[in-house]
Amino acid sequence: MSMPRLPLPSRDGPAGTRRWYQHAVFYEVLLRGFYDSNNDGIGDIRGLHEKLDYLQWLGVDAIWLLPFYPSPMRDGGYDISDFFNVAPDYGTLTDLSRLLDDAHRRGIRVVSDLVMNHTSDTHPWFIESRSSRDNPKSDWYVWNDDDQRWPEARVVFTDVERSNWTWDETREQYYWHRFFSHQPDLNYENPEVADTMVDMVKFWLELGFDGFRLDAAPYLFQRDGTAGEHLPETHDFIKRIRKEIESNYPGRVLLAEANGWPADVADYFGDGDECHLCFHFPLMPRLFMAVRKEQRYPITEILSQTPEIPDGCQWAIFLRNHDELTLEQVTDEERDYLISEYAKDDRMKRHMGIGRRLAPLLDGNRRLAELLYSMVLSLPGSPVIYYGDELLMGDNIYLGDRDSVRTPMQWSPDRNGGFSKADFAQLYLPPVMDPVYGSDAVNVEAQCRNPGSFLHWLRGMLIQRRAMPVLGVGTMEPTACPNPSILAYVRSGEVADAPVGSSPWGTMRPIGEGFGGGTFGRPPAPPSVVPVAAGEQDLAGQRTQAVLCVHNLSRFAQPAELSLPRWSGYTPVEVLGRVPFPVISDEPYTIALGPYGYLWFELVREPPFPEEVIG
Ligand code: NOJ
Repeated sequence: MSMPRLPLPSRDGPAGTRRWYQHAVFYEVLLRGFYDSNNDGIGDIRGLHEKLDYLQWLGVDAIWLLPFYPSPMRDGGYDISDFFNVAPDYGTLTDLSRLLDDAHRRGIRVVSDLVMNHTSDTHPWFIESRSSRDNPKSDWYVWNDDDQRWPEARVVFTDVERSNWTWDETREQYYWHRFFSHQPDLNYENPEVADTMVDMVKFWLELGFDGFRLDAAPYLFQRDGTAGEHLPETHDFIKRIRKEIESNYPGRVLLAEANGWPADVADYFGDGDECHLCFHFPLMPRLFMAVRKEQRYPITEILSQTPEIPDGCQWAIFLRNHDELTLEQVTDEERDYLISEYAKDDRMKRHMGIGRRLAPLLDGNRRLAELLYSMVLSLPGSPVIYYGDELLMGDNIYLGDRDSVRTPMQWSPDRNGGFSKADFAQLYLPPVMDPVYGSDAVNVEAQCRNPGSFLHWLRGMLIQRRAMPVLGVGTMEPTACPNPSILAYVRSGEVADAPVGSSPWGTMRPIGEGFGGGTFGRPPAPPSVVPVAAGEQDLAGQRTQAVLCVHNLSRFAQPAELSLPRWSGYTPVEVLGRVPFPVISDEPYTIALGPYGYLWFELVREPPFPEEVIG
């Protein structure tokens, strides 16, 4: 494909560098559910393109695009029947190329989902492979005469599949699949398969994608006597892709979907020569556990088991995504607890987890949603926001499998929530219509108009985060506090100098007016004070930045006596209001937090003058 590609805008600051992903906020888009530009009831590429204004306004740095490839759609598009094309329902390669160009023009990167482990059973490769034992593709999938090989490998979708082997009548052999039986695994022992997948990677990088989320990364290879996960051969193959990126596509990234224990997942960073990012799966359920138990230990415990990662690598942290809230990485007891707290109705259970969106999980409690986002935006890692969660959209537990959390984006109170002008019956899924979360009550247009909305709050937090690059790359130092409901830590480190409150990306992004019938409104006023930050400012424009983040996980007000001896003599300046708090001494530093309260302070040596604060 030789389509003209726009270079990424050259930007100063961290996001303009090859390590942009360490400062990025990702936004996960289900194409099918985002916006329907041609009114056929299915979201499409042009629809997403039309909504780039919105994403730019929201302030996200990168889109993670869920699979858009031709597919029979028996697993949300993760069952691919052609790796080198776009599903006709979504548009064309030209539409995609235009989307990428325009996103790049706006400084937004786009990462695609790369499903390397398996195909749909309707893929021509599999149809050929299953047709006989001696066709040219006979060895492209994993075949066996019996279904007894690799008994140690677990079944992922335990509620719907009984085995990882399925009998094929035509070939009279079993084929291997780690997910649904209609998703046969490719055979990576076959060099033709591996080479073809590398060609596929290059194809999409040439089109302009900024990287990939590597679906089902741990399962590429199998080996006798193992569980068939995280094998060295799998790591070698991913490293091969990384090499290709380093040689020919610098600045593009790999994000691993490897649902495992932190120590196993950290292997996907290699020695800084494998994936740039990995999702931190075990942290996610523990955030939900901590706020329900009103105790910090589930979070601190998993963080203490999270190894150091190589320079240039980054965790990706999230609250919800397009799958169930997975409970694979918790103990049986913890799983029972989370199910009893968050899935009181059996219909809420999906696979090994809970098929609900963020807001209903939290009983619509906005303070709690802010608290959880405050942690996701300030813990070490790059935050990933699931589409609609910026509105606190609801779910539909009466839909099958994970469709409960894949309903149409709610743009306005208009027909079909402003998602599509198709007849209701034509929509790929019904929009949420209940009185609490339906599009009459929850939609972009209304929240844009209301400066007090969750959408505006989150946008404001993204602006604040951008002004504190240390939240992307700084170290995390837990702050001792006798109250177990308080989670506090200091993020600190050297950052490229940028005035506090201005964007390290350059100028603040433009504000769209009148979008979708609503008004985006003005951004929160940037802080008017540029305090002298902690540490000396050196001639190369590097300075130390330190941010103290304090969270009250309890539903009641709580005192926090923080032990901050290292920061004695510094002034905590609350980042939203730029209000200086009393200077830290050698004594415990006491503050009070309201129910589910959170506070971020920049620690500065010289407090700002009071008149500057008022400004
Ligand atoms: C992980 C994806 O997130 C999930 O949606 C899918 O079902 C499996 N991989 C299988 O592709």
